[in-house]
Amino acid sequence: MSSSIQEINPRRINKINFDNLVVEIGFGNGVYISHLARLYPNKNFLGIEISGESIKKLSRIIKRENLKNLYSIKLDAYWTFYLFLEDNSVYEIYINFPDPWPKKKHQDRRLTKLENLYLFSKKLKYNGFIQLKTDHFNFYNYTIENAKVLNCFEIIEYKNFHEEIKTKYEEKWLKMKRSIYTLKLVKLSEPKLNIPIKTIRRSESMSSLKIKNFIDFKKLEGKVFKIEEDLVVKFFKSFEREDEWMIETLLSENGYKHYFFTYLRKKGNEYVLSISSFSEVLKTEGIIKFIKWLSNLDTF
Ligand SMILES: C[S@@+](CC[C@H](N)C(=O)[O-])C[C@H]1O[C@@H](n2cnc3c(N)ncnc32)[C@H](O)[C@@H]1O
Repeated sequence: MSSSIQEINPRRINKINFDNLVVEIGFGNGVYISHLARLYPNKNFLGIEISGESIKKLSRIIKRENLKNLYSIKLDAYWTFYLFLEDNSVYEIYINFPDPWPKKKHQDRRLTKLENLYLFSKKLKYNGFIQLKTDHFNFYNYTIENAKVLNCFEIIEYKNFHEEIKTKYEEKWLKMKRSIYTLKLVKLSEPKLNIPIKTIRRSESMSSLKIKNFIDFKKLEGKVFKIEEDLVVKFFKSFEREDEWMIETLLSENGYKHYFFTYLRKKGNEYVLSISSFSEVLKTEGIIKFIKWLSNLDTF
């Protein structure tokens, strides 16, 4: 549940439309973005985080200081940009000390991989910029190489860049006497090549189905199924009440992760299969396909 309207619930909105929008990806304890929000009351700030703890920390700051121009969303940065931000709408993007994922086998997790940088660049306004700070020289160079491939940025490398505010990780690395590398990528044009990106599609179809046969959720516990190439489901614990059954479900749709309870209810001689109303989900084609697939699963 959202604790305040400034914590945006991704399952309840269609677009994020703010004037003068500035974004910080992975804001950690929120000191940096809240500092900017205080300094620039005429801009709107959106902090994107996957950590619930970080969201709570920022919410406390927002509440305590009544910062009306600061919002947060708990969702992966890629999907936030992909689903909710308009092209050419973002003025500034800050990325401070992201995990560098130095091992090659983890490079797909890097925040500035080509696909992400491409998407971020599409969302930036002309002359808008991405500012990256990192202590990791290889990651810094990796980001520059990707920016060069897109060929749409002025690439500015700073030496001894000083800012009034320091993030938790910046303090940490400075204490350890590590160098800090700062990079600004200013958008001058649209990217010069099209990069294929992961997509998901919203759906308005009904996500509940009447079925004739009972599905024994107990037998699904711990099982993984590949419904389609990019649609994989994993089932966890199931629960039972009189004439009602639920099972914890993780559905990965092209990399987007839906967590919810699948719900089965007896209705007369039939059953109704749906997503539990306790779970808020982003209604997508994958969710609809999942319900259809499960309704036809007759192995059990
Ligand atoms: C190393 S911490 C840096 C935190 C803060 N920026 C600082 O400098 O102190 C990286 C942060 O990025 C967040 N993060 C990692 N991947 C993310 C993603 N894909 N989308 C949004 N946030 C992400 C993590 O939860 C974590 O809080």
